[in-house]
Amino acid sequence: MKKMIAPSLLSANFLELGKEIDMLNASEADWMHLDIMDGVFVPNISFGIPVVKAISKRSKKPLDVHLMIVNPDRYIQDFRDAGADILSVHYEACTHLHRCLQQIKEAGMKAGVVLNPHTSVSLLKEVLPYTDVVLLMSVNPGFGGQQFIPQTFQKIAALRNMIDEIDKEVLIEVDGGVNIDNAADLFEAGVDVLVAGSAVFGSKNPTETIKLLKR
Ligand code: DX5
Ligand code: ZN
Repeated sequence: MKKMIAPSLLSANFLELGKEIDMLNASEADWMHLDIMDGVFVPNISFGIPVVKAISKRSKKPLDVHLMIVNPDRYIQDFRDAGADILSVHYEACTHLHRCLQQIKEAGMKAGVVLNPHTSVSLLKEVLPYTDVVLLMSVNPGFGGQQFIPQTFQKIAALRNMIDEIDKEVLIEVDGGVNIDNAADLFEAGVDVLVAGSAVFGSKNPTETIKLLKR
């Protein structure tokens, strides 16, 4: 277990994005989590490739790009060119998930698979050896500031067992409703990376909150 924090810029102040990134650069944040929404796969639209490119010029931390879009395989090289380091695609959005993961790796990024709350981790058995990160959604994707779904803990435990059975490092990342009250329990349950949006940017002192989330 690694105890990494990936603040989600979805909850940042977009008018002061440069300052927000400088704050994260100087903090204990490990990755910057960027949520890409297309208004089709999820009922919301966030920001796209030019914004990722601008962020990558300023960021000193790896960019963890979470694609909530249909046909993610069409944009793999574009996100690589924009500066993505980890690229995660939804299981539910990929007809050819195995090929998609291979293409992400061939493009030079770490490959992530994201599961919606209703999708069982058991479906990952065949692709786990080709996966660097499994991102478990602990809310339904599309919006920040939602309530954590407690059943996620069962999925973490089951996934931890599956990963322990294969001879490969696969990180477990959890996204949605993560806060100061549940972070320690999630790390304890075997999570490596916690995404936190509103808990970080909605707090009085985001730098301190990032530190507290790790403790
Ligand atoms: C939701 C996004 C999350 C979101 C998390 O679809 O994937 O990354 O920003 O926000 P919080 O931490 O506020 O639940
Ligand atoms: Zn996300």
